[in-house]
Amino acid sequence: MKVVKTIDEVKQAVREWREEGLTIGAVPTMGYLHEGHLSLIDRSVKENDRTVVSVFVNPIQFGPSEDLESYPRDIERDSALCRGHGADIVFNPEPGEMYKDGFSTFVDMSVLTEELCGLSRPTHFRGVCTVVTKLFNIITPDRAYFGEKDAQQLAVIKHMVRDLNMNVTVVGCPIVREADGLAKSSRNTYLSGDERSAALILSRTLALGRKMIEAGERDVRKITDAMKKNIETEKLARIDYVKIVDIETMQQVETIDRPVLCAMAVYIGKTRLIDNFSFTEGE
Ligand code: PAJ
Repeated sequence: MKVVKTIDEVKQAVREWREEGLTIGAVPTMGYLHEGHLSLIDRSVKENDRTVVSVFVNPIQFGPSEDLESYPRDIERDSALCRGHGADIVFNPEPGEMYKDGFSTFVDMSVLTEELCGLSRPTHFRGVCTVVTKLFNIITPDRAYFGEKDAQQLAVIKHMVRDLNMNVTVVGCPIVREADGLAKSSRNTYLSGDERSAALILSRTLALGRKMIEAGERDVRKITDAMKKNIETEKLARIDYVKIVDIETMQQVETIDRPVLCAMAVYIGKTRLIDNFSFTEGE
């Protein structure tokens, strides 16, 4: 396995693999890998002849008051994990390699980015769509792997691939959780001991919402009100949003009469955590 810093090195390897007729999987990440990321790498290694993992803390998807500087980084550890899981290349560019002087072209999306994280982080998905487009152009993967943990991001990328006729199959992978239910996230490393316990309010509140829906409640207002009330019992928690949206359009619904995504973003202290579940009648 190679760790490479330049776009040219990735393109060269891809050219050679293509000459041999090999298939390629891509796993875009911002590093500080955990079992959630590793589940995507394992799936890619299983389904493709070659796997490229990108490790790049993408500056343009962070807002001005967000955690770009403090975002955890450990490329040595990440590379060892990728090697252990059978990746072929770790692409770890510097920001200047991805965004040369004068960089001025962006991929933006409406509708799907209007709610949830797009509302709280107005330039976030433009940054994600732009970097993922660049990675797709560099790696030219047959398949690319994304986690359902970031459900809106997964929907946005699937939609972008469809809208822009990109030649890649986007594969969504299930959320990997800690034994106590907390969704794995690189940002969990920010949590103090007390905050780590408080963070369980996310998965517990999702369980409450799911229980209400499974018991037959279809009124979104009633469900999200009960969920918000539950989160408010946790002193260290501050709600960013708790919403139920149409799983295709990411627009809010009033009644659960179609497949939905129930998603939340909650601050635990200064750390913003997200989690979600989807619900389809009869599934
Ligand atoms: P990052 O947060 O590092 O996540 C990389 C990929 O891992 C994403 O597809 C994310 O959904 C997935 N992932 C994270 N935690 C997971 C978990 N607990 N279970 C399953 N999958 C999980 O998402 C990004 O980076 C960036 O926005 C990126 C797509 C790389 C663009 O910069």
